Amino acid sequence: MDKKMNAPKHKIGVFDSGIGGFSVLNELLKAFPEAEYFYYSDDAHAPYGPKTDEYINQRTFVITDELISQGVEMIVVACNTATAVSIDALRAAYPQMPFVGVEPYLNAYYKETGPSKMAVLTTVSAGKSERFKRLKERLDPKGFIDHYSLQNLARMVEELYKHPEYEGEFDKLLVSELEPLQGKQYTHAILGCTHYPLVRNKIEDVLKLKTLSPCPYVAQRVRELSVKPGEVPGDISETFEFYSSSKPEWVKKNRSDFYYPFKK
Ligand code: DGL
Repeated sequence: MDKKMNAPKHKIGVFDSGIGGFSVLNELLKAFPEAEYFYYSDDAHAPYGPKTDEYINQRTFVITDELISQGVEMIVVACNTATAVSIDALRAAYPQMPFVGVEPYLNAYYKETGPSKMAVLTTVSAGKSERFKRLKERLDPKGFIDHYSLQNLARMVEELYKHPEYEGEFDKLLVSELEPLQGKQYTHAILGCTHYPLVRNKIEDVLKLKTLSPCPYVAQRVRELSVKPGEVPGDISETFEFYSSSKPEWVKKNRSDFYYPFKK
C-alpha cells in the first residue's frame, strides 16, 4: 500500500476580517502546500480595527464554530487585530483546538536588521490591546520601535481589492495615512496588520524604507506544529475552500486561481 497516498490530509482553518489573511495563506501554500485550507473572510464585518473588543470576540467565536464544522484540526488567526483581542479567549473556550496567531514582528529589531530606526504599524484595536502592549514591553523594553495605529489602511486595502479602479485614489490616501511617519528617517516598518503586506510595495515607495512581515514565520510554525517527525504529509491539493461572510457558502477554488493581490 502506498503510505504517501493514504496519509490523512491536514485540514487547516484560516481567517481574517477580509482579504488580509491572504498574506498568510500565500505563505502557507508555499511552506505547507500539502494541507487542505479553509479560508474564512469576514468581509461583511470588516474592518475589525475600529470595532469594540466585544464585537471582535463575538465574530471570532462565530468563525471558529464554522471552521470546526468543516473539520479543521488547527485554526490560524491570520489577523493581528483578532489575535490581539481574542486569541486568549478562543484558547480558553476551545481547549482542544490549536490556534496559531499573528503578531507584529518586533523581534526583527534584534534578529534581522541590527541597529536601525524602526516603526511598527497596527490597526487601532490591535494597537490599544493589552496583548500588544505586553508584547511591546517584552520585545522592545528600551522603546526603540515607534508605534503608529493607522485608522484607515486596512479598510482602504479591502476597497482596493473590491474596486481595482480605485487605485489612483488609494495611492493619494495612502500618502496622507502615512504622513505621521514622514521625515522620521525610518529604515524599516514592521507590518502589524495582515492587510498591509498586500500593499507593501506601495508603503515602501511612499516611505522609502523596507517593510517586515511575520507571515512567513507564521506559515513555518503551522507546518512545524502539524507535521510530526518522520511523517510524510501527503499530496498537494489542487484546491482550497473559501467562505465570505457577505456571501455565506463554502466555495471550492483552484489554487492556481489564488492570486496575491496588488503585487508589482
Ligand atoms: N488584517 C487584520 C489585522 O491583521 C484586520 C484589519 C482590520 O480589519 O482592521 O489586523
